[in-house]
Amino acid sequence: MNAAHKPRVLVTREVFDETLDYLRRHCEVLANQDDVPYAPEALAAAVADRDGLMCCLTDRVDAALLAAAPNLKAVANIAVGYNNIDVPACTARGVMATNTPGVLDDSTADLAWALMLGTARRITEVERRVRAGEWTGWQLKQWLGVDVHHATLGIIGMGRIGQAIARRASGFEMKVIYHNRNRIAPELERRCNAAYVSFDELLAQADFVVLQMPYNPQTHHLIGAAQLEKMKRSAILINSTRGGVVDDAALVQALRDGTIRGAGLDVFENEPKLNPGFLKLDNVVLAPHIGSSTEATRKAMAMLAAQNLVAALTGGKPPNLLNPGV
Ligand code: DGY
Repeated sequence: MNAAHKPRVLVTREVFDETLDYLRRHCEVLANQDDVPYAPEALAAAVADRDGLMCCLTDRVDAALLAAAPNLKAVANIAVGYNNIDVPACTARGVMATNTPGVLDDSTADLAWALMLGTARRITEVERRVRAGEWTGWQLKQWLGVDVHHATLGIIGMGRIGQAIARRASGFEMKVIYHNRNRIAPELERRCNAAYVSFDELLAQADFVVLQMPYNPQTHHLIGAAQLEKMKRSAILINSTRGGVVDDAALVQALRDGTIRGAGLDVFENEPKLNPGFLKLDNVVLAPHIGSSTEATRKAMAMLAAQNLVAALTGGKPPNLLNPGV
């Protein structure tokens, strides 16, 4: 294909060389390999003459941005979550929107487990103490944690990632309960060894409450002061899905006053500027949105986004189209 006829795409953040090589075989690529996120006006300027956009959760794709890019035909998010994209606005302009489901399920489930184990066994807290020279020797009652094995795991949001988290629980001989908008198929419940309960039952019974639902206006602050009150005082909250599903100010308060025992968090409201209250607490494990961040998984996500974009721009059907109406 002649370069002059290749579709023009913008890649908003640094991606892997193999992703760029693939894209360049099919497109004329403007790549922001400096990896400094575009401010909204700069993004609008950079996308103005583009046919395709490969973006991340740090880029807001809304009606204003779409209006600045009259040629745009497709937006490919390098993420399964797509709350950064106004999909109805894309549909209204005939722009295809895609995400990257499937390839990150296991890595994200592993990270949720790392947060569960790390919080239950106080790993980051004791590591800080060891480094500070505070460990003077073994003691029977030293830095006691809680058991993960044989505890009750409650998962809110039982999609692919929630199910992958549940399946891992069998090795720990846990009781697994879940809540989801819709009950999953009986065969999947059996595979996950999970029982469906109401939202309030889950909050009341779970030793570990793991959030794995998408973020949208319906799930905004799904966990706030009232819900934290309904949890066991010994419970641990894990958020490995999106900031915003938890009211972080209410969580800081609950961790401070012992309403719940602890929290393991990979995501925050207003990332990366997290609530400063978290930094003063020992009963919270903090991770910087690394749920899918293994080399293999991030490469797979970037490649899948690139394949979605190329398919959309070369007349094919992108494998992960969010708005088939287009
Ligand atoms: C996703 O895919 O939604 C992740 O949060 C990105 O790392």
